[in-house]
Amino acid sequence: MYICLCKSVTDSQIREAVANGGKSFGQVRKQLNLASQCGKCGMIAREIFNESLQHHVDNEQLFYAVS
Ligand code: FES
Repeated sequence: MYICLCKSVTDSQIREAVANGGKSFGQVRKQLNLASQCGKCGMIAREIFNESLQHHVDNEQLFYAVS
């Protein structure tokens, strides 16, 4: 689903950026050129980033708990 219409950025791209090591919203925003035009996508993009980061952290903890 497109999150940023101005820059054609999808929720999958945000999740992928987090999975590939994006640790801050600013870093991911810069990498994807997200929310850099009208800015209307900023709030939802940040929500998706936070949700993805939490999911990523939970998965890492699960991995370590098993090994
Ligand atoms: Fe993302 Fe306009 S919708 S900058």
